[in-house]
Amino acid sequence: MDVIVREVALEDSEAICNLLEQLGYNAFVPETAERIKAVMADEMHCAFVAVAKGNVVGWIHGFFAIRIESAPFVEIGGLVLDTSARGAGVGRRLVEQVMEWSKQRSIIKLRVRTNSARSKTHQFYQNLGFTETKEQKVFELKL
Ligand SMILES: CC(C)(COP(=O)(O)OP(=O)(O)OC[C@H]1O[C@@H](n2cnc3c(N)ncnc32)[C@H](O)[C@@H]1OP(=O)(O)O)[C@@H](O)C(=O)NCCC(=O)NCCS
Repeated sequence: MDVIVREVALEDSEAICNLLEQLGYNAFVPETAERIKAVMADEMHCAFVAVAKGNVVGWIHGFFAIRIESAPFVEIGGLVLDTSARGAGVGRRLVEQVMEWSKQRSIIKLRVRTNSARSKTHQFYQNLGFTETKEQKVFELKL
């Protein structure tokens, strides 16, 4: 598949929203656009899209995570490929782009949290060289 990877732009909001809907999220273009704007304005964040024949077929978001107890790392906050573009190495390219962005900032560790039910996604990350380090529960509090 002929694909280019570039930094995200505000005009990608609708396509990104569509990809989120494929994944079962209730996504709305204005809110998505606001979040993309915030990512673009913050040098601690990066986001890239994969474009095939002029259409956005995937996106990834990464961000610096600072912890008191351990060295900083970059976390993958989101990654989605259009169902029609899967299995062609595009997901790998997007992760490699975030790896490159991280290395340029002297970060030597990437982390991703995935839903424990997504076994195919676990296989994807393992094929890319990630190793499973722990299982967690996530707690939230509505304010
Ligand atoms: C997971 C996802 C990003 C993978 O993207 P992709 O472009 O299809 O993956 P690639 O073609 O780059 O595959 C890279 C490697 O992972 C493997 N892989 C990809 N999907 C796989 C699957 N469903 N099952 C097993 N292995 C898989 C490939 O075989 C390939 O291995 P290789 O390079 O050693 O041959 C994509 O399927 C997706 O968007 N899934 C839904 C959303 C999701 O789970 N996002 C991640 C949230 S953290």
